[in-house]
Amino acid sequence: MFRFIPREDAGSPEAPRPDAPPSLSHRRSRAFARDKLTNVKTRDDALALLHEFTKGDSLRKHALAVEQAMKACARKYAPDEDPVRWGICGLLHDFDYEAYPNADQHPWVGSKILEERGFDADLRQAILGHAPYTNIPRETLMAKALFACDELCGFLTACALVQPGKTLAEVKPASVKKKLKDKAFARTVSRDDIYNGVKELGVDLEEHIAFVREAMLEISHEIGV
Ligand SMILES: [Fe+2]
Repeated sequence: MFRFIPREDAGSPEAPRPDAPPSLSHRRSRAFARDKLTNVKTRDDALALLHEFTKGDSLRKHALAVEQAMKACARKYAPDEDPVRWGICGLLHDFDYEAYPNADQHPWVGSKILEERGFDADLRQAILGHAPYTNIPRETLMAKALFACDELCGFLTACALVQPGKTLAEVKPASVKKKLKDKAFARTVSRDDIYNGVKELGVDLEEHIAFVREAMLEISHEIGV
């Protein structure tokens, strides 16, 4: 949560004595760092929030699929960042959709709730940016990855469900690329979002399809494809 910490007065240019107590600004910054640490949101917090607002099985499974894709993206594109946090971003990107589906609600209402529950600003910004109509820029790698994975996860699930065994294992990445051009198939999935997402992330479409498919396959038993 953002909090305003006033700057200290300019004060004396002299260096503090070694035995001097920590300055007020030092104590405040230590307290702020401690708050940040104790305020870190866990995957359990995120899952509880998802379940609080989303009762539908398919939207919960979609959330899990995007979480998995985001964790894989974190490991590949941002090895210095926490994959669990990226996963939380995926898990929660649509958590408000069932209750607040309209474009003037989702993901705005969700973002407000996330702020109230103490989820960090970067994560909220990425979630706002996954809906192109918000016009919130996707500036971080996490935001770009979320946009590149969200609709694709939905499309891969749709591709799996038309296979004889209804499994993702039966889906070939090349066939997914071909199916994207079939406008009658899974027509609610935005092709523009997928193409633009891949472009913004700077990756090859078929490679990204294969990569996200692999990530989803790791939890195929949980997402039911
Ligand atoms: Fe989504």
